[in-house]
Amino acid sequence: MSNPVFLALDLPTLDSAKALATIVKSHVGGLKLGLEFFCAHGSHGVHEIAQVGLPIFLDLKFHDIPNTVAGAMQAIHVLEPKIVTVHASGGRAMMEDAKAAAAEGTKVVAVTMLTSLDERDLSRTGVAGSAHDQVMRLAELAEASGLDGIVCSGQEVGAVHKQWKKGFFVVPGLRPAGASTGDQKRVVTPRQARDDGASVLVIGRPISRADDPLQAARDIEATL
Ligand code: C5P
Repeated sequence: MSNPVFLALDLPTLDSAKALATIVKSHVGGLKLGLEFFCAHGSHGVHEIAQVGLPIFLDLKFHDIPNTVAGAMQAIHVLEPKIVTVHASGGRAMMEDAKAAAAEGTKVVAVTMLTSLDERDLSRTGVAGSAHDQVMRLAELAEASGLDGIVCSGQEVGAVHKQWKKGFFVVPGLRPAGASTGDQKRVVTPRQARDDGASVLVIGRPISRADDPLQAARDIEATL
C-alpha cells in the first residue's frame, strides 16, 4: 500500500513549503495545500509544489451555488489535484455538480462540520441536535450526492466507515504517540486512524515543526 500520509504545507512562504516537501518527499504520500497557500501563491504556487513529484490535495473547501462551484472545479483541472474539498452544507445539487465537474482522477470529499464549531454555534445557525448527528447526516448526504468521501476526525472515522463502506476518508488532527498536541484537542495516532478506516492521514506540525522533519516523517511511516 502506498503511504497514506499527506503533509499539510501550512508554511509562511512558498520557498519554505517547497524546501520542506523536498526534504520529506520519499517518506510521505502526498502534499496538502490549503486556502491560505492558494490565496497567497495561486496556481503558480501549486505548480511549483507539484514539481516535487507527489500527489496534491487542494483543501479549498468550495461552498457556493452549484454553477460557481462547478466552474471553480473545472478551473483547477490544470492543477491535476488528487483530492479537493467542498462543504457538505452547500447541499446536494452543489455536491453533485462539483463531482460532475471534477477531473476523472480527482477525489471530491466533503467537509461536514468544521471542528472549530460546537453545538452552541450550530444552534445559532439554526441547526438543532447534536454535532455528531449533524456530521452523520451530512456524511449520508455526501454519499447520496455521489462524492468520494468526507473529511472526519480520527474519533469519527470508525463510525463513518461502518455506515459508508466504500467511502474515502480524509483524517486530520493526528498526533504520533508522545507528540505535542498543539491546538488539536481530540487526537488519535496515525496508526489508529488507519486501522479504523482512514484512506488519507493529514499531518502537519508533527513533521513541519519537528527538529528533524525527515526523521519525524520516517518515524510516522514506520508505525503504519
Ligand atoms: O499541523 P496539523 O497536523 O494539526 O495540521 C492539520 C491540517 O489539517 C491543517 O492544515 C489543518 O488546517 C487541517 N485540518 C484540521 N482539522 C480539521 C480540518 C482540517 O486540522 N478538522
